[in-house]
Amino acid sequence: MPPQLVRRASLRQLQIFDAVARAASFTRAAESLFLTQPTVSVQVKNLEDAVGLPLFERVGRKVSLTEAGRLLHAAAAEVLEALSRVETEIADLKGLKTGHLRLAVVTTAKYFAPAALGIFCGRHPGIDVSLKVTNRERLLQRMVANVDDLYIMGQAPEGADATFVPFMPNPIVVLAASGHALAGERNIAMERLVEEPFIMREQGSGTRLAVEALFARHGLKPKVRMELGSNEAIKQAVLGGLGISALSRHTLRAGDGAGQLVILDVEGFPIVRHWHVGYPAGKRLSVLVRRFLDFLQQEARILVPWEDDGQSAGRPVP
Ligand code: PGA
Repeated sequence: MPPQLVRRASLRQLQIFDAVARAASFTRAAESLFLTQPTVSVQVKNLEDAVGLPLFERVGRKVSLTEAGRLLHAAAAEVLEALSRVETEIADLKGLKTGHLRLAVVTTAKYFAPAALGIFCGRHPGIDVSLKVTNRERLLQRMVANVDDLYIMGQAPEGADATFVPFMPNPIVVLAASGHALAGERNIAMERLVEEPFIMREQGSGTRLAVEALFARHGLKPKVRMELGSNEAIKQAVLGGLGISALSRHTLRAGDGAGQLVILDVEGFPIVRHWHVGYPAGKRLSVLVRRFLDFLQQEARILVPWEDDGQSAGRPVP
């Protein structure tokens, strides 16, 4: 049996009563609720009838709560507060059901980003997702222009006003064709490596930045034979005997080298890096975008296929 108040009072009356109690004025409460003052007075009167006692007392122009009014106000404030919390949570749930997620990633992240989105969309089937794949330099331009919701790149942008967090390893390894002279060697010196023709990613690539930085730290420069704007094209060029290259371990999937590509055992490699996900400072993230961010941080490691495959330098890529 619901209490008598539930049968006789309405939520709207409680809201009006709360506004009068907070403003200590019928006029100001009416203004804040966009109602006329008589409407506010009638609603408060009806509530007083339902309670059976006066809720306010007026001394001159001042309005204050009676003892019954104070009791009811404590309960009304709690109910209204709880309802407003639930309203926010329901809006969030709706966002998770039908929201948008615009993801932009560097070229190399295309090896795992679609799989990550696939798992995420499986959990939130009503959402819309878009995926933009481009190189690091262009991604940074998109971030400055605030085009997308989230950005994934091989390392956090330097000096940019942005928030980025690491979520998964992104090692860069040296690749050669399995018949290459260095294929069976151990602990190859970097000085030896730079004698080999090198196939380099294009200007603006994050992979290229990391590889050039490593060589530069050793006072060396690779002998670049060719520049290519695609990891797949580079793998084909390596297979075709045009030279060696250094690419993210993510570009190697079981079966794609069919035993014809090897990871060379070179000092300084793999270059240990982590994938980072982030957004420009001050950006307001929707619940859905935040959920995807958490998903990447907590679960993306399942997308690292080589972690347990025993694959190490000097062995052919299966
Ligand atoms: P890229 O970036 O695809 O532009 O080379 C990859 C990375 O930064 O690791």
